Amino acid sequence: MTTKQVDALVIGAGPGGYVAAIRLAQLGKKTLVVDRAHVGGVCLNVGCIPSKAIIHAAKTFEKTKSADTMGIIVESAHLDFTRLMKWKNGIVSKLTGGVAGLLKGNGAEYLAGNARIVGPGVVEVTTDTGMTQVHAPHIVIATGSRPIEIPGFAFGGPIMGSTEALALEAVPERLVVIGGGYIGLELGSAYAKLGSDVTVVEASRQLLPGQDPDLVAVVAKKLKAKGVKVLTEAKALGWEAAGTGARVRIEVNGTMQTLDADKVLVTVGRRPNSENLGLEAVGLKPDARGFLAVDAQLRTGVPGFYAIGDVVGQPMLAHKASAEAEVVAAVIAGKPAAFDAKTIPAVIFTDPEIATCGLTPEQAAAAGRAVLVGKFPFAASGRAMTTGETEGLVKVLVDRDTHELLGFGIVGPQASDLIAEGTLAIEMGAFVEDLALTVHAHPTLAETLMEAVKHAVGEAVHTMNAPVMSR
Ligand code: NAI
Repeated sequence: MTTKQVDALVIGAGPGGYVAAIRLAQLGKKTLVVDRAHVGGVCLNVGCIPSKAIIHAAKTFEKTKSADTMGIIVESAHLDFTRLMKWKNGIVSKLTGGVAGLLKGNGAEYLAGNARIVGPGVVEVTTDTGMTQVHAPHIVIATGSRPIEIPGFAFGGPIMGSTEALALEAVPERLVVIGGGYIGLELGSAYAKLGSDVTVVEASRQLLPGQDPDLVAVVAKKLKAKGVKVLTEAKALGWEAAGTGARVRIEVNGTMQTLDADKVLVTVGRRPNSENLGLEAVGLKPDARGFLAVDAQLRTGVPGFYAIGDVVGQPMLAHKASAEAEVVAAVIAGKPAAFDAKTIPAVIFTDPEIATCGLTPEQAAAAGRAVLVGKFPFAASGRAMTTGETEGLVKVLVDRDTHELLGFGIVGPQASDLIAEGTLAIEMGAFVEDLALTVHAHPTLAETLMEAVKHAVGEAVHTMNAPVMSR
């Protein structure tokens, strides 16, 4: 066994852990980051990045086949799935290599191994070659999360989690997706475009439960148009082998049905990785769902232990983890810092994309706020027309009395990028006038946010103003 003494040890090298390690090193701390799987965590290796590569390739494939409206006739577009996956793997390698380079370049050390807390300030790391005992006054737990398995659907054979769905060897002919949330709809629609016959089984009454129904309706309509079957209020009960695939038993509104599939993708949420970490050795107690509680400085309550990212709770998003990582590094370096984001944007890479920040109409109503609602449809955007992507709308919530911008919901082309302006506006405490009087370049999709904001106060130019309505 070797021993090591560092200023800070980070457990987990995902978008939380690697960012914390880089910043700690930049702030002059001798830093070690440990991961049992790979640099870059779920996001870079088996999450955000590979999924977005597949989603984009699927969109490109579909666009190529349907470009005839623009006068581009492609006689024989066909898919080489092996090449697609190779391209996707290349992106992952480039990014993870980049992160490894950044860790090294900034002076943070990386160790591949499984970490276990053995006492205050002491962690044992089991590596391929033995055991390293690490002593550190500051320990950051950034261990992330993993897919939830549901009873009767253990991963293996035809039953897949998101990791397996991102590493398929062939496009499944028939794909059943259990769970119509973020991952189910992102990957379900991508595989539908690549040729799978997709059925989504969702337990709730609405796909993407919790999201604004106005936004979800646009995605649901497009799924239907693309031939994706959606069963809501449907429960998956179990499955039997059928050839190399599965016959899935489901209950929809009290009636039993079966669905035959070559692959079944189970995406019913994620759970924090807080087990087998030795938390009990220092008296750290996760809550009933496995999350660790932290304060605004990301301190756990046990001196010397901090936690960031998915393991501290919702929203389980990479950019939240990275933002917390920067704060925790500053805290450890003795700087005044707190995690105090007014809003954390969320993006769902469906077709079209959904992006939100700030309050939803439901949350505004629950908070008893009187709001004005502004909307602008992409069908009225010149830029959207020139790209052939006119589905969806921008929706903005504005405080009726003060005109403060409270929330943005976008469903449409490039919603993932457009939301940045809304996020900045809310973070800065901007008002209708700030966004409405900012000159937006023409013709761009960003104009739709400006128009929606103007619409909220009855001053839209490129769509008809409804009488200003408060909710
Ligand atoms: P999710 O929480 O987004 O969706 C799970 C869905 O499964 C829900 O609609 C739920 O009602 C349904 N469900 C639960 N149990 C079920 C059952 N037994 N049968 C049928 N349906 C059932 O979870 P998902 O898609 O697994 O994603 C996990 C998390 O990963 C997300 O919440 C998000 O935080 C993160 N993520 C973020 C992405 C992004 O930022 N674009 C992309 C993918 C994931």
